[in-house]
Amino acid sequence: MKKAIVVGASSGIGKQLAVLLAQNNYRVGITGRRDQLLLNLQATNPEQFVVSVFDATDIISIPKYLNQLADELGGLDLLVLSSGTGKINPTLDANIEQETNALNVEGFTAIANWGFNFFQQQGFGHFVAITSLAGIRGSRQAPAYFASKAYQINYLEGLRQKAKNTKLPIYVTDIRPGFVDTAMAAGENLFWVATVEKAANQIYKAIKNKRDVVYVTKRWRMIAFLFRILPKAIHKNL
Ligand SMILES: NC(=O)c1ccc[n+]([C@@H]2O[C@H](COP(=O)([O-])OP(=O)(O)OC[C@H]3O[C@@H](n4cnc5c(N)ncnc54)[C@H](OP(=O)(O)O)[C@@H]3O)[C@@H](O)[C@H]2O)c1
Repeated sequence: MKKAIVVGASSGIGKQLAVLLAQNNYRVGITGRRDQLLLNLQATNPEQFVVSVFDATDIISIPKYLNQLADELGGLDLLVLSSGTGKINPTLDANIEQETNALNVEGFTAIANWGFNFFQQQGFGHFVAITSLAGIRGSRQAPAYFASKAYQINYLEGLRQKAKNTKLPIYVTDIRPGFVDTAMAAGENLFWVATVEKAANQIYKAIKNKRDVVYVTKRWRMIAFLFRILPKAIHKNL
């Protein structure tokens, strides 16, 4: 049986992906801060889910928690990082910006580092992170969220190059959702909102195929392209 850890499996995309991995014969370490939600998920399949409760902004303790969890699982083939935060911040509240960076940049870096080094040491592995279409350009709606997702996308590109350089079977997958129907997608003017089931199915397929970059759902690839080529003069006035 393969072993996976999903960081941020208490709700949303991470939870559904953990369910799908368990259905596909993975033993899955599930993490988050909301212990009861994790225990509820574990109760649905106690043989296959192992719970670890920690805050992904606690960058000093992250290696300890992830090492313990990998030990408990009996190894690790796949690490999925789904924990993330982002709030619309029209007043540019400094706390919101710093909280976003603490998880999406500092926590992300600590987990990505741990994962890459773990896989390099054992000689194989697959690291998957849920970034966002938001990482393509900046936005006045939530400057830190968009910037932190750009950081993640760039970081993953660096890790992918590093993986190739090792000549080991280490893979790095960047999942870029548009809108998915979770607590995080609350708001108006949303469109093309995917169900978590549809999103998780597409992510699982991307994992199986060891893809580099995948848009979820697929049609967001076109929006990403248009967003990227949008002239600065127009973008500035949005
Ligand atoms: N939904 C969308 O439309 C959408 C679009 C693009 C990208 N994304 C990305 O998809 C990822 C998953 O989000 P989601 O939509 O599934 O939202 P969600 O249901 O709110 O899930 C967020 C997950 O992150 C975890 N998390 C938040 N703060 C944490 C912390 N300090 N330490 C550890 N875990 C923490 C939460 O667990 P606890 O609260 O239990 O800690 C939860 O499991 C995020 O990275 C998000 O940026 C989502």
